[in-house]
This record gives sequence, C-alpha cells and structure tokens, in this order.
Amino acid sequence: MQVHTSIAALRGARTGAGRAVFVPTMGNLHEGHIALMREARGHADAVMASIFVNRLQFGQGEDFDRYPRTFGDDCEKLAAAGVDHLFAPDETVMYPQPQHYHLVPDPAHDSVLEGAFRPGHFRGVATVVLKLFNIVQPDVALFGKKDYQQLMVLKNMVRELALPIEVLGCDTIRAADGLALSSRNGYLSAAERAEAPRLYRQISAIAEAVRQGGRDFADFEASALGELEQHGWKPDYLTVRRRADLKTPAREDDALVVLAAARLGTTRLIDNIEI
Ligand code: PAJ
Repeated sequence: MQVHTSIAALRGARTGAGRAVFVPTMGNLHEGHIALMREARGHADAVMASIFVNRLQFGQGEDFDRYPRTFGDDCEKLAAAGVDHLFAPDETVMYPQPQHYHLVPDPAHDSVLEGAFRPGHFRGVATVVLKLFNIVQPDVALFGKKDYQQLMVLKNMVRELALPIEVLGCDTIRAADGLALSSRNGYLSAAERAEAPRLYRQISAIAEAVRQGGRDFADFEASALGELEQHGWKPDYLTVRRRADLKTPAREDDALVVLAAARLGTTRLIDNIEI
C-alpha cells in the first residue's frame, strides 16, 4: 500500500490507476471499516482509502481533540485488507487556510435527527467529502449504513451536483452481542460496554414489531425510550422513519428504518435498522 500525504502525490497515483473506488474514514479502524475495504475490492481496479479527522464536522464540546488517532495500526489493517492507496493528509494539507466555502445540505435533511442534535455536522461532512471527492476523483465511493443519515445526505449531494460518482451503502457490522462497531465504543467503561447493546435490542424489537404489522410507532418509541432511560441512557431520539428522506412514515407501504441516538455516560452512540 502506498501512503500519500499531499494532494499532488495522491493525484499522481490516481493517474493511471484505472477505475477507482474510494472509502473515506477518520481512522481508528475496526471491522466495520475493514468490511468496506473488502467490499471495495470487488468494485474497481484500485482501492483508495483516506484517513482524516475532519474538524469541520465536530461541534463545540464534541470529541475532536480526544478522537482516537491510531495511524500505525490503521495502516497495517488497510494494507492487510488489500487497499492500494491511502490518502492521509494533515490539516495543513486539507485546510491550509480556514475553509470559507462550505457545502450546505438540503435543510430538510440537515434539520432532523442527527442534524438537529449536531448543528453543522452534515455541512462539515458534505464539505470534506466533496473536497476529498475532488482530490481523489473516484468512480465509486462506499459508506456504511451505520451512519444512515450521512449516507442519505451524501447520495443526495452527488445526485444534485451531478458528480460522476456512484455512492454505495454497506451493511452495519456488529459485535457478537449486537452493538454496532464504532470508534466511539472505545470510550465506554466495562460496565457501559456491557449495557451498550441495549440500544440495538430496543431498535431490533421495534423493527420486528413493525415487520409483524405493528403500526403504533409512537407507542413503540415511547416504551423503548423509557426502557433506555430506566437503564441510565440519555436518548436524543429513537424513531421510525421513511428510508428515502427520514420523514415520518406516511403510507402503509413505505420502506422504513428505525434510528436511534443516545448517550451512555459521556459517550454518544447511534444505530439503525432497516425494517
Ligand atoms: P468514520 O466514522 O471513520 O466512518 C468511515 C466509514 O465507515 C463511514 O462510511 C461509516 O458509515 C463506516 N462505518 C463505521 N462504522 C461502521 C460499521 N459498524 N459497519 C459498517 N460501516 C461502518 O463517517 C466518517 O468517518 C466521516 O464522517 C467521513 C465520511 C470520513 C467524513 O469525514
């Protein structure tokens, strides 16, 4: 695997790399990230990954400074997963001056769920991903459904801006007890780690109830929220939405997804399940 720290070096490697698939990350890689790299292999001649902890997408008081940075280990994992090129810029490369131009997502997508609880988050994500797309110029880009709303925002960005990139979503990789893998799981104490799968169990139970024909979404949500609160969680939201636009379900036959975000101690976890 070749590691490129400058835009010029990455562009040099990109020329002649053929069809390229790109998997952007913020590092501290786990099996969820690595599954994306493996999936990438089947889509193109060259697999390109990036590691960049993007300051723009972290709000005030969020974990930008303490976000785990494990570059050496990450490189070993990416090389073992068959990644050909890693773009690993530092902030002076990505933001040599303050980023004045931003990509503003559709307010309908940015004002709900994660967007409501993390103002400016998707603006930061869309801006860095657009910039990374311009640098890497991939044919295909892979993102995890773990960050369901992020995937929706980026798919719509690509469509509305007519970027010549195919955006694909990959299934969420979980620990044996159901907890979705996340770099933030490392913040959990042993007791919190034991408690953490409850989030998945709650949204699974709702998904199952809806699959069985249940339509009392408000009841399901209220009882799941109550259950989490009783066990010490501070939920931001837990809700059944339409997959396509994350709006409240309107018709019987809408394709649905149940999404949740909740804080356990100081750690904020998100998860979702397509119904
Ligand atoms: P990061 O959180 O590092 O995630 C990188 C990619 O891995 C994202 O597409 C994310 O959805 C996916 N991912 C994370 N955990 C996963 C899991 N358990 N199963 C499957 N996929 C998983 O998401 C970001 O970085 C950033 O916002 C980024 C897109 C890189 C822009 O800065």
